Amino acid sequence: THQWRGVIEEFRGRLDIPDGTPTVTLREGGTPLVESGWLSELLGADVWLKVEGDNPTGSFKDRGMTVALSVAVGQGAEAVVCASTGNTSASMAAYAARARVKPLVLVPQGKIATGKLAQALIHGAQVIMVRGNFDDCLTISRGLAEHYPVALVNSVNPMRLQGQKTASFEVVDFLGDAPDVHVLPTGNAGNISAYWLGYTEALADGSATKAPVMRGWQAWGAAPLVDGAPVKNPETLASAIRIGNPASWTLAVRAAEESGGTFRKVTDDQILAAQRSLASRDGVFVEPASAAGVAGLLLEREEGADLRGRTVVVTVTGHGLKDVDTALATFTDIVDTVVDVDVEAAARAAGLE
Ligand code: F0G
Repeated sequence: THQWRGVIEEFRGRLDIPDGTPTVTLREGGTPLVESGWLSELLGADVWLKVEGDNPTGSFKDRGMTVALSVAVGQGAEAVVCASTGNTSASMAAYAARARVKPLVLVPQGKIATGKLAQALIHGAQVIMVRGNFDDCLTISRGLAEHYPVALVNSVNPMRLQGQKTASFEVVDFLGDAPDVHVLPTGNAGNISAYWLGYTEALADGSATKAPVMRGWQAWGAAPLVDGAPVKNPETLASAIRIGNPASWTLAVRAAEESGGTFRKVTDDQILAAQRSLASRDGVFVEPASAAGVAGLLLEREEGADLRGRTVVVTVTGHGLKDVDTALATFTDIVDTVVDVDVEAAARAAGLE
C-alpha cells in the first residue's frame, strides 16, 4: 500500500534544490482539503479548507522545514537558527532533531503559545527569549547566521518557499485545477509568496489552466501590508501573526498584485468568532491566526462580495491544540458544571429533564 512519502520525495522533480540533497522528513504534506459545508452554503461557493494543522508538528511550516533542513545538512550545517512566533521554532526543532543538528530558537518573551514552546523544548532546542517582538528576533537571527556557524532557516531562506509551494501543487492535484480564489492568513508573508510561486509554476507546466486571486488577511493591530508601512509595535492575540515588518514584503506584494488580489485586515474578535465557527461547525480546530482567512471571507460576505459559483480554498495554517489558553479564555462565561456521581443530577445539569 502506498504511504505518502513527504514533500521532497513526492515533489523532488519540481523543487529547485541542490542535486544530491539528502532527505530529512517526517512525511509532511499530503494534507486534506476538507469541504466547509456552512461556508459553501453561506457563500454559494465551493469552499475548501486546506488543513495544514494535520502536518507532523501541527502547522504548514513542516513543508518548508523539511527542505530547509535537508539542504542545510547537505551543505554541512551543524546548527540551525530561527526567529519565531512559535510554529517555525516547533517545526525547526523537530527536523533538527531528526537531522542531528543543534536547534537555536529566538522568540518574543511571553508572546508565544504554550504548546509551541513545549514543542521546541522537548525536541531539544535551545530557546532564547528576547525582550522584543518577532521582528527584533529576526534581526538577531540574521546577525547570528552572518557572524557564527549557524544556518538561518527562516523563510528568507529560499529553500523554505520551495517546500511551502508544494501546498499549491496538492490543491491543483486534488481539484483538477487551481481554485478561483485562495485565502490565507499573512504574517511574515513567506507563505503567500510560496503559494503564488506554486500556482504560477502549475500554470506554466500545464497542470493548471488558471491561477487564483490571492487574498492575504492580517490582524488589525499587525497589518503592515494593509497599511503600507511597517508597524513598530504590532499587537494581536493571534500571536502567530504578530509581526510588524514582514521579511517577504516585496514577494508578497507582487503575489497579490499579479494575481489581482489584495491584503486586508480583520479584528481579533472577528478572528476568534471565525475560529469558534470552524471548530463547532466544521469540526476543524485551528489556532487563532489560522482563522484569519475565514474571518476575512465572512467579512467580505457581510460587505456584499459575490463569490457564487466560485471555488475558494482557505488555508488554515496551524492546529488549535497549540494554543489552548486562548481557546479556553473565550469560555469564561461558561461555569464548570460539577455533579455528584448520580445519573439524575447529571441529567438535570445537562438540561435533559
Ligand atoms: N499562520 C500561522 C499558524 C503561523 O504560524 C504563521 C507564521 C502564519 C500563519 C503566517 O505565515 O509568516 O508565512 O505569512 N508563523 C511564523 C512563525 C512567523 O514563526 O511560526 P507567514
